[in-house]
Amino acid sequence: MTRLDIISIFPEYFAPLDVSLIGKARERGILDVRTHQLRDWAHDVHKTVDDTPYGGGPGMVMKPEVWGEALDDVIGDGAPRMIVPTPSGRPFTQELAQELAAEPWLLFACGRYEGIDSRVMAEYGTRLRVDEVSIGDYVLAGGEVAVLVMVEAIGRLLPGVLGNAHSAVDDSFAPGAMRNLLEGPVYTKPPVWRGHEVPAVLLSGHHGKVARWRRDEALRRTVANRPELAAAIDPATLDKHDRRLLDELSFRLPPEDVAH
Ligand code: ADE
Repeated sequence: MTRLDIISIFPEYFAPLDVSLIGKARERGILDVRTHQLRDWAHDVHKTVDDTPYGGGPGMVMKPEVWGEALDDVIGDGAPRMIVPTPSGRPFTQELAQELAAEPWLLFACGRYEGIDSRVMAEYGTRLRVDEVSIGDYVLAGGEVAVLVMVEAIGRLLPGVLGNAHSAVDDSFAPGAMRNLLEGPVYTKPPVWRGHEVPAVLLSGHHGKVARWRRDEALRRTVANRPELAAAIDPATLDKHDRRLLDELSFRLPPEDVAH
């Protein structure tokens, strides 16, 4: 069972973890999610958690004393891996999701305002593995939504969470042959909808041709939507057909020594 602790001034943000995939994983005893109200560790009447930044500037900074008491209580004698969501962190990727899915205990510390006093990360960094993590190059109002994103990405990788054991294997960013290729379009019945036809090859029953078509579509989509991912494709993984397609798309592979 994977344990997840989340400390936030808005524990209500985590209501979605009661439903769907993560909710079922909790019911099945795969995940133990515990949310905590940071203000429970504030002692003044106003339950103050923030103060003005040293050095000046806009916004407020979360106070270290409140975080310290909260973290000490939640951690106890244990040693969870600690994640602090912040736009200044290292990127959250499928690779990091896989690494975190292998941990028995994760602790998410959600900052609001301009962030948490940096000494908190320094202090717990002496005892725990602490990572500041960003989910993308945009600024949210707080770490709560970023934690929801990370918990969903991590949760679906836990054994027994996805119905089909292979569902996570061919994700766009999973390791393997299709690594770093985006997935192409998908279709279901009916074969014609409002005049739009399902590509004939998918109805042909020819597995080889279907696989080839899917790979072509994956390459097209990657070149169109994520040229930087396409540029990072290992040329050794491209066959003649792939190269011809990239040529048709006027996509130039970078010289081999620059690609990696
Ligand atoms: N908090 C605010 N913006 C964030 C981001 N992009 N990633 C993680 N945490 C955040």
